[in-house]
Amino acid sequence: MNKIIYLDAAATALKSRSVIDAEMDFLRNKYANAGRGVCTRASAVDDMVANARCRVAKFINAKPNQVVFTSGATDGLNRIVDIISSQPWYLEKSTFAVSDLDHHSARMPWENLMYRGKIRKMFKCELDEKLDINPNKIPKTDYLIITAMSNVLGRAQNVKKIIAAARQENPDVVTIVDASQYVVHERIDVKKWDCDFMVFSAHKMGADTGLGILYIRDSEKYFPDKFGGGMVSKISDAKWILNGAPEKWEAGTLPLTQIAGIVPALDYLETHRPNLDLIKYAYDELVKIPNIKILTMQDAAILSFVVDGMHPLDIGVMLGAHNICVRVGNMCASWIHQKLGIVGSIRVSVGPWNTISDIKNFVRIMKDITK
Ligand code: ALA
Repeated sequence: MNKIIYLDAAATALKSRSVIDAEMDFLRNKYANAGRGVCTRASAVDDMVANARCRVAKFINAKPNQVVFTSGATDGLNRIVDIISSQPWYLEKSTFAVSDLDHHSARMPWENLMYRGKIRKMFKCELDEKLDINPNKIPKTDYLIITAMSNVLGRAQNVKKIIAAARQENPDVVTIVDASQYVVHERIDVKKWDCDFMVFSAHKMGADTGLGILYIRDSEKYFPDKFGGGMVSKISDAKWILNGAPEKWEAGTLPLTQIAGIVPALDYLETHRPNLDLIKYAYDELVKIPNIKILTMQDAAILSFVVDGMHPLDIGVMLGAHNICVRVGNMCASWIHQKLGIVGSIRVSVGPWNTISDIKNFVRIMKDITK
């Protein structure tokens, strides 16, 4: 069988040996639950979780008790809405602002709130001519959702400037950053950003599926959204004493095997960021093909395009027949496609495993397909 050329890192990254080894070692030799046992083996798992949390906190410039393990970015983004909208002080007359760069999971939970009459109005942040969020046109709003890097366009947004602009309009604005794509390419600094919430998924940055990171700046301020084991220290009839953060946010058993893989994944990511010269090379070659329309910029982290007269799904199948994996469709980011007047696109994204020969093969097949 021919080798697979995996150009779909943005859908999910292939795993480094260090991540696989760490998870295997945990499953084979170290497996026990966290936060529940007192035996040496269980305590070692507690230490493993605490160490992973500290590593993530350092990675995003936060404190460990501001880092919550979730089941993924989608879970984190949905939970933020549940957390905010269930606080006693929450006002249904509030407003929120989104942009057309958003992934469905960043915006749909807020729209759902609106459709149920639980939030008054949605604003849109304007995009400029490069399709970046325009920091000079941020609406006055109570909740601001920012996609730090679109999974279609692959350009880092000026999150710090956008948040500063939103705070100029409303000093009490609550800001939420979806950094799922950004984390793969750029350093996250939640203090510098000055955001209230931030999420990313573990699987895109080289750790496993089923794990996400949720940063909550005021992690002690909010009442939790989920209840169960591990988050309450005393309980009697109608009286609870909740644990402090982060435990109060982590009811139930954590995705321990995935957590075992996150430290090696972060170590690997910090030393093996995707080589974006490969994307630039692909851009420079595809731009020469007359019936291809490229949607992204030459220096973007992702290459997205469409082919005149051909459906993206057909291109995906044809590339797949040559063992080349790309993502096609709307990438769960319908709004940017609607803005561009297209139903979907073809997306090429690279990871540290990709080589120039992968890209040359991809370009060669694209030339054949579009002849
Ligand atoms: N949201 C992921 C993607 O961009 C899965 O493909």
